[in-house]
Amino acid sequence: MEKKKFYITTPIYYPSGTWHIGTCYTTVVCDAIADYMKMNGYDTFFLTGTDEHGQKIERKAKEIGISPKAFVDKQVSTLKDLWEKLGIRYDKFIRTTDDYHEKAVQKIFEKLYNQGDIYLSEYEGWYCTPCESFWTKTQLVDGKCPDCGRDVELTKESCYFFKLSKYREKILELFKTHPEFLEPKSRQNEMINNFLKDGLQDLAVTRTSFSWGIQVPFDPKHVIYVWIDALTNYITALGYMQEDDSLFKKYWPADIHMIGKEIVRFHSIIWPAILMALGIELPKKVYGHGWLLLDGGKISKSSGNIVDPVILSDRYGVDSVRYYLLREVPFGADGVYTNEAFLTRINVDLCNTLGNLLSRTTAMIEQNFNGILPKLNKSIISDYDLDLEKEVDSLKSKVDEAIDKLQIPEALTYIFKLCESANKYIDLTEPWKLAKDETLKEKLGNVLYHLTEVLRVVGIMLLPFIPNTAKRILADISVDVPSEFNDLIKFGYLNGGEKITKNQKALYERIKIQQELVEMDKISKAIKEKANAKKEEKKVDKMEINENVSEIVIDDFAKIQLKIGKILTAEKHPNSKKLLHFTVDTGDKVRSICSGVAKFYTPEEMVGKEVIVVTNLKTAVLGGIESEGMILFAEDEEGVYTVEPSKVLKPGSIVS
Ligand code: MSP
Repeated sequence: MEKKKFYITTPIYYPSGTWHIGTCYTTVVCDAIADYMKMNGYDTFFLTGTDEHGQKIERKAKEIGISPKAFVDKQVSTLKDLWEKLGIRYDKFIRTTDDYHEKAVQKIFEKLYNQGDIYLSEYEGWYCTPCESFWTKTQLVDGKCPDCGRDVELTKESCYFFKLSKYREKILELFKTHPEFLEPKSRQNEMINNFLKDGLQDLAVTRTSFSWGIQVPFDPKHVIYVWIDALTNYITALGYMQEDDSLFKKYWPADIHMIGKEIVRFHSIIWPAILMALGIELPKKVYGHGWLLLDGGKISKSSGNIVDPVILSDRYGVDSVRYYLLREVPFGADGVYTNEAFLTRINVDLCNTLGNLLSRTTAMIEQNFNGILPKLNKSIISDYDLDLEKEVDSLKSKVDEAIDKLQIPEALTYIFKLCESANKYIDLTEPWKLAKDETLKEKLGNVLYHLTEVLRVVGIMLLPFIPNTAKRILADISVDVPSEFNDLIKFGYLNGGEKITKNQKALYERIKIQQELVEMDKISKAIKEKANAKKEEKKVDKMEINENVSEIVIDDFAKIQLKIGKILTAEKHPNSKKLLHFTVDTGDKVRSICSGVAKFYTPEEMVGKEVIVVTNLKTAVLGGIESEGMILFAEDEEGVYTVEPSKVLKPGSIVS
């Protein structure tokens, strides 16, 4: 029989380089759902990728002096490494700079233009660069971007528009006839009240103020930006508008577009309208999950907390991070990250409930049955046994239902509830007492068989969520890792006779939370200091000489006071790798000066040198140290060199 199809997508990520535990949320959630569906027998396709065009990327690349493509290539490789680290099992990674995507986007644009859904006009609006969004004055909140709260600029330009207004009624109708299209339900009300109720304006879909984007094929000074470039990734990745569109035919429409709440408007209004214009079926569901917050605000790396998923995974294991995200954040609503809640989840659920069940069970089988699973004796089944069997048998349908509602924390709660019941079953059946009486050995065997069955079922059910932990459990009880659930999630699959190993390594080590919180603080502090030092280095970069200077008149030059200075002391700057810190005698006084030459000179080489100093420069603070002037250096492609007088002069001598 042909398998049912299941297509799930994450948003394509901006390759901005600041990935914290919050940004990983959408992808970890999709990964777990996709794998669950795969194990449940669906032919699953899980798409993720990167959204690489736009002014923000262009500016960032320029800032560090590389091409936008070189910039995004580097970022994408870091992001892919992160997904690998977090065990993300995507089927395809699309980049909006991929050739096939760019060509398909141009064809889509041309089609919409030819059929009159795109037209040329002029746009004046308030533009938010970080969000790449135009806003009308009434949409601004206190004069700022309603999405991110940052400053906006009034911008006017010739622009192609998509006739979004034409689709307002149809989208309202969609919400009415398919209430399951956008979830959670509250997001629908937001969309209707904030965007649809008072009419929908046509949408500017090209820009001329930057060039890092896909060109409009018939008008190349325009680039197609975010809406048509980014949103269409969900279909171009499957081959839409390409020679081989078999994946598109097979998997579209998407079952779920999983997204964060700030991009619900794009996905539930603009995207359906584009699809309606193209005459393509709509996705079955758009789910706008909440944000992971830190102290009430959206997480950002500069907050200096230990929220780096790589640091957390290296220190506590990838599955701890995955489990925390999937279990702790109430799905659909916002959640707040705290180190304490993270560590507590590891201790209570992974170490105590799950880890103890595994170690107690395997240890008892090793001690009493030489590490061989005893056979089940059905003639001496107790009520406790039956209760546990029932719970095992009912687990799958409960988890299926939770996943169907996309309630992942609920699904995990059911799985861990079974572990709790198994631990309680140990307390009730008291196997340590049974072990003391040889006549009760069969009863003991039955208890341990039941516990091992729970571990088997739990191990398999956890594969989509915390795969490493699940595999380790299954390995300890000699169960092969299945690729599908099939009918494995039922009590009584094991025959007895399987090799059971008491692993020397605990599944999860118990964490001393208070002590660990202090350690985490230390790590956070180090991250913050590193970030500050980087900021200072950037400041220094900005102070470096501008190549594109225009002509000045002699009066301009006369404003600059240059004097001979003698370097008295030199040391490495405590907060910056780039800077050296000098004290310099300039005749009038001894100045503290910082220069970005640590790569070219050791402090020792600099002491005693006579240099030229700009002495009337406003004092700046670099990395916490005052810099009262600037030493001049000359540079070529190989390095940076001091500029010294051809005769030893008195400090303070005028250079003119
Ligand atoms: N490029 C757009 C999406 C275009 S899709 C056609 C974008 N990219 S993003 O990199 O900013 O965000 C990617 C995902 O990360 C989004 O789903 C976003 O909601 C999610 N998150 C970013 N920070 C988050 C938290 N602090 N918490 C939870 N999810 C958050 O948007």
